[in-house]
Amino acid sequence: MSDARAILLNLDFFEGIARVHDASVDLVIADPPYGLGKDYGNDSDRLNGEAYLEFSRRWIDAILPKLKPTGSLYVFLTWQHSPEVFSYLKTHLLMVNEIIWDRKVPSMGGSTRKFSSVHDTIGFFAKSRDYYFDVDSVRIPYDPETKRARTRSIFVGKKWLEVGYNPKDLWSVTRLHRQDPERADHPTQKPLEIIERMVLASAPPDGTVLDPFMGSGTTAVAAVKHRRRFTGFEINPGYFATARLRLKGLDEEPARTGGGAKLAVVR
Ligand SMILES: C[S@@+](CC[C@H](N)C(=O)[O-])C[C@H]1O[C@@H](n2cnc3c(N)ncnc32)[C@H](O)[C@@H]1O
Repeated sequence: MSDARAILLNLDFFEGIARVHDASVDLVIADPPYGLGKDYGNDSDRLNGEAYLEFSRRWIDAILPKLKPTGSLYVFLTWQHSPEVFSYLKTHLLMVNEIIWDRKVPSMGGSTRKFSSVHDTIGFFAKSRDYYFDVDSVRIPYDPETKRARTRSIFVGKKWLEVGYNPKDLWSVTRLHRQDPERADHPTQKPLEIIERMVLASAPPDGTVLDPFMGSGTTAVAAVKHRRRFTGFEINPGYFATARLRLKGLDEEPARTGGGAKLAVVR
C-alpha cells in the first residue's frame, strides 16, 4: 500500500482487507458494531446470537494475519458478547487484559429489573509475549499533594512516584455528550482519550495502526496526532466523510502532527 501517513478507505472491511500486507500492522483497534440494533445507515448492527459470533470470527480471521509478531489487538465489545469473542480470540492470541470502560453515566433512576449497565468491555490481546508495550508513555502523574503525602521511607526514590503510575484496567472516561466539542456526527464515537492511550502504549512511533470499523475516525486522529501510520475502513460514506474531515483538521495543526497528515484517501 501507499506510504502515506493515513489511508482511509470508504470500503467494506471484508472486501478491502486483502490490500493490507500480512505481518505489517503493529496495532489493531477494532470497535465493531455491538449487535445492539444501532442505525449506522446499514444493517451491520442488527446481528445477534450465533450470527454475531460468526461475524466476529470472520473479521478476526481476516485481520490476524496482518499483525506483526510484536503486534497487539484491542477490541470493544458489550458484556453480552465478550465471553464468546474473547474465548475465540484466546485460541489465536495471548490475552493481556480485560479493560472495563466506565462511561461515567450519571445516576438517574436506571433499570428497575436489573443493575444498570454503564460499561463497555475492551479486550487487549497480543500476538506473542514479545508484544510492544510502552508503559512510560501512558503513565498518570501524581498530583503534588499525593506526592507530598508519600513521605514514608518506603516510598522515597520510587520511580513510579516521580513518573506517575501505570493506568489500571478500569478506565473511567466520560462518554461523549452531544454538546462535547470533540463530538462528531456518529452515534457511537469513542473518546479520543481512550484511543490515544492504546496508540501510545501499543504502537511504536512510526508504527502502523489498523481500524477495520473506523466510524468517525477517532483511531485515525489518535494515530496521526501521535505520528503513527494509519489504515482504516468505513462502509458508510457519511461517516467516512466525517473521518476525513477530522483528519484534515489535524492537517491544520502542523505543530502537533509534525507537518500534517499527508492524507491519502482511496475510495
Ligand atoms: C462502533 S462504530 C465505530 C465507531 C468509531 N470507533 C468512532 O469512534 O467513531 C462501527 C462502525 O463500523 C461500520 N461498519 C460496519 N460494518 C462494516 C464493514 N463491514 N466494513 C467497514 N465498516 C463497517 C459502521 O458503519 C460503524 O460506523
